[in-house]
Amino acid sequence: MYLVLIGPPGSGKGTQAKRMAEELGFVHLSTGDILREAVREGTPLGLEAKKYMEEGRLVPDEVVIGIVREKLRSPECEKGVVFDGFPRTISQAEALDRILEELGRRLDRVVEVEVSEEEVLRRLTGRRTCRNCGAMYHVFFEPPKVEGVCDKCGGPLYQREDDKEDVIKERLRVYRKDTEPLISYYEKKGVLVKVKGEGPIEEVKQRLLEAIGVRR
Ligand code: AP5
Repeated sequence: MYLVLIGPPGSGKGTQAKRMAEELGFVHLSTGDILREAVREGTPLGLEAKKYMEEGRLVPDEVVIGIVREKLRSPECEKGVVFDGFPRTISQAEALDRILEELGRRLDRVVEVEVSEEEVLRRLTGRRTCRNCGAMYHVFFEPPKVEGVCDKCGGPLYQREDDKEDVIKERLRVYRKDTEPLISYYEKKGVLVKVKGEGPIEEVKQRLLEAIGVRR
């Protein structure tokens, strides 16, 4: 099964995609995570992506499409993939259709995760991420056991560069301009479902699983 989660920054795509992929035995494919790792490691990809990410702009389509094409060729993706943060433009969506077709697969469901702008701001300003393993927390909604320390690996927690208020505003603007048009793109294809993304994390996960036809 191939699933896409679409929603504004902070709507919980990463949180839910990770949990869904674990539960279903699928690959969690987050272009944001891949790009952040490249930035951390200082690879040529990371050096190119860094300036766009820090300003809240999108990394050029050909760069992210190349990453996804490469990743989808690996056998671990055969059972299923939960895409998080990709596609983000019509041209990325068209490329995904082509890549899946080449592989003899198709997109099964696209879920729009609906969250108000007020909630997005609350979530992003309180998000903390582990510098070592990338695990995610929220100072109020999902705090670590010890402040500033990752429960999973003991690594230090930090606030993402793009979670500063002015960059969040730019990311929301870019979402409305470049990514929201994907909602009608997928509606026309008959694969879109909408899910309310507010409420406890576990409840949202159950709603998502129901929406894709996997009841728990
Ligand atoms: P990316 O990493 O994809 O960021 P994003 O789409 O802006 O989404 P976020 O990671 O900010 O939020 P999320 O929806 O995953 O929410 P999360 O689960 O973390 O992209 C970053 C940058 O990389 C882009 O700006 C761009 O530059 C580049 N990029 C990436 N992909 C690209 C692409 N395809 N094309 C071009 N450029 C690309 O949750 C947020 C917080 O809320 C957390 O603290 C979490 O604990 C908390 N939370 C989650 N759910 C709940 C809940 N139900 N209740 C309370 N709190 C909750």
